[in-house]
Amino acid sequence: PVLVVDFGAQYAQLIARRVREAGVYSELVPHTATAEEIAAKDPVGIILSGGPSSVYEPGAPALDPGVFDLGVPTLGICYGFQVMAQTLGGEVANTGLREYGATDATIVTEGTLLEGQPAAQNVWMSHGDQVSRAPEGFEVLARTAATPVAAFANDVRKFYGVQWHPEVKHSDHGQNVLENFLHKAAGLPADWNSGNVIAEQVERIREQVGSGRVISALSGGVDSAVSTALVHKAVGDKLTAIFVDHGLLRKGEREQVENDYVASTGVRLITVDARERFLEALAGVSDPEQKRKIIGREFIRAFEQAERDLMAEAAADGEPIRFLVQGTLYPDVVESGGGAGTANIKSHHNVGGLPEDLQFELIEPLRTLFKDEVRAIGRELGLPEAIVGRQPFPGPGLGIRIVGEVTADRLEILRDADAIARAELTKAGLDAEIWQCPVVLLADVRSVGVQGDGRTYGHPIVLRPVSSEDAMTADWTRLPYDVLSRISNRITNEVRDVNRVVLDVTSKPPGTIEWE
Ligand code: XMP
Repeated sequence: PVLVVDFGAQYAQLIARRVREAGVYSELVPHTATAEEIAAKDPVGIILSGGPSSVYEPGAPALDPGVFDLGVPTLGICYGFQVMAQTLGGEVANTGLREYGATDATIVTEGTLLEGQPAAQNVWMSHGDQVSRAPEGFEVLARTAATPVAAFANDVRKFYGVQWHPEVKHSDHGQNVLENFLHKAAGLPADWNSGNVIAEQVERIREQVGSGRVISALSGGVDSAVSTALVHKAVGDKLTAIFVDHGLLRKGEREQVENDYVASTGVRLITVDARERFLEALAGVSDPEQKRKIIGREFIRAFEQAERDLMAEAAADGEPIRFLVQGTLYPDVVESGGGAGTANIKSHHNVGGLPEDLQFELIEPLRTLFKDEVRAIGRELGLPEAIVGRQPFPGPGLGIRIVGEVTADRLEILRDADAIARAELTKAGLDAEIWQCPVVLLADVRSVGVQGDGRTYGHPIVLRPVSSEDAMTADWTRLPYDVLSRISNRITNEVRDVNRVVLDVTSKPPGTIEWE
């Protein structure tokens, strides 16, 4: 792989994604990894990420200098560029001149790194320190008004660096900088794609499973749908998928799983209809944390019941169930330290909170992948677009989008309003712009309205459209007024008991994406 050394920037994962977009497999490693540990991963290229520190601050994240003796083509970005300059004998200074945001850069010499790029371009900067002198043997490739050494190269050692952030879309030719480094400087072919990933995973899953049986919990979301389909491709009917209908799903979701998903994959599916049971357990409860706990607990019970039935069946024909499929993604693995098994808590929570004492070996075919890659694989596997392109949806479902007690009646109201909002956003072509748009029913709030000739006293519906890269932070999406107006008109006209539509214009932080 190409290794992205993480110096604590929010940009490191983004760099890894961009490298993969260029068709080269990449992984993250912490900056504390030793040269030996890095060498053990057989890197074909190394990229040093940006970071929030200053290289000569005490305790600034450092890099084992031995990494520069591995003979591997290396690209430094921002802080990584400065670490490279300092370690190899150049100079980094704090001149008091900061550059932040869009900056004009002048290319002095294209070299391999900036080959084919225009001499004047706009790049995205975010730094206080700067490289004031390039190390010996390095040629300066670019400068800006404030930064005399904005990019450099040593073609003999295949070391390169840029002060700006090529992984950010705001840098005009950023992706081309990465591609030049990968394909031209390091000579790596663009041969990593979803087709190869599928073939490789299928092979690996077959090896792991042998003659055992596998179960999987389908939630209707993208990750469990794709991981289940991949495992099915590998082991066929040795896999059984369990789908718990807790009654907190959006309109049409159960049908999509039972009909479209099964038709496109051939997965053997068992649906547990637990709608009554969830409603009974949620009766009279309006505290968000308590709702979440109840939904988690009931989910486990429903899943375990289906599991027991299957175990009995499997025991009867002598092939025990030994494996459980989990849709754990790469960001979960990275964020929980990257060690084996550490991602369980989070992935359990993804499928609605499976218990940790289930006696299964995990199959996690998406462990090395980012969300957009999972979607690409889903499409390659022929899954319905309505599932593959789906927005993130919380495990506890609509249960945490009704502020107040959850009842069958209120669920129906919310489902109708949500279906209208989703349909109009899709029709307006806004799906790519929006990370997700929770639709929330304020069931404990009423306001006075007028409809036809009469006074109404109904509930408000909240629209919460957000834009985000990873759900950790988010901004509210500036939706066109005409789209908002259509959604509002339709919801107030078509959904009973709703007489107002309001827009949530809060970023995260301070607001979370969901209301509960
Ligand atoms: P918040 O509300 O914390 O949400 O800003 C961040 C992201 O996580 C989703 N979310 C959940 N996903 N189980 C899940 O699988 C949950 O209990 C859960 N709660 C929130 C939320 O939709 C958003 O994408």
